[in-house]
Amino acid sequence: MTSKTEQNIGYVLAGVLFIVGLLCYTVFAKNPPQEPLRIMFTSTGGKVFFDHKTHFSESGYAFECDMCHHMLEGEGEKPVSCGECHLEDGEDTPKRSDALHTQCIGCHEDSGSGPVDCSACHLR
Ligand code: HEC
Ligand code: HEC
Ligand code: HEC
Ligand code: HEC
Repeated sequence: MTSKTEQNIGYVLAGVLFIVGLLCYTVFAKNPPQEPLRIMFTSTGGKVFFDHKTHFSESGYAFECDMCHHMLEGEGEKPVSCGECHLEDGEDTPKRSDALHTQCIGCHEDSGSGPVDCSACHLR
């Protein structure tokens, strides 16, 4: 093999690797979902399973994000954890577990479906 051919192979390889890298980047960068699908809360009251995706997806209960993420303002603003504002020992704002209880149970009562009994949410 001449050094010229070796050089060309080198360029081709570099090109292939670049494309593979680019593909991996786009595939993996898009793969992690923007929002969690399912959330398992752990508390002193036991574990609580929350099917996040079913609560907001069209094929599920189709609630808008801001039904729950009530402090969302600007278009495209990313929801943050309730605990960012509702602290464990909150005083000015309702504390985290109260905020969640009020919202989860409140909506289940209002919509006449979804669990309202302690043991229906808290898996021990
Ligand atoms: C039925 C109520 C509800 C709906 C509707 C909802 N979410 Fe959530 N979401 C929650 C709860 C509760 C959490 C857990 C928050 C926590 O752990 O403090 C959460 C967590 C999240 C998180 C993770 C936040 C973090 O940093 O921990 C993201 C991101 C998110 N939701 C985005 C969305 C988006 C986008 C939509 C609309 C497509 C949406 N949610 C609809 C209730 C809801
Ligand atoms: C950016 C800060 C912030 C985030 C994030 C936030 N909250 Fe709140 N929340 C507040 C403040 C401040 C209040 C009290 C003032 C008001 O009612 O708007 C409040 C009030 C509430 C109330 C009304 C309590 C009552 O007794 O009337 C509920 C329920 C609640 N939040 C649930 C949640 C849940 C559940 C999440 C997460 C999905 C969440 N909040 C995320 C700041 C926040
Ligand atoms: C905005 C209204 C709304 C809020 C807020 C809400 N839910 Fe629900 N949830 C529903 C409705 C409606 C159903 C039942 C639909 C049915 O049975 O067809 C449901 C069903 C459920 C179910 C049983 C079926 C399933 O999806 O697993 C669980 C468990 C549940 N919710 C947990 C929670 C928890 C935990 C929270 C708070 C973190 C919460 N939900 C907040 C409306 C809500
Ligand atoms: C709709 C679902 C749901 C129902 C019904 C429910 N809970 Fe909860 N509970 C939760 C969620 C969500 C949390 C918050 C976990 C966290 O802070 O991450 C929680 C937290 C708690 C905690 C921990 C509080 C803390 O300060 O750490 C206790 C204790 C508790 N619940 C007891 C109860 C009792 C007793 C009942 C019945 C009267 C009940 N729960 C009904 C969803 C529910």
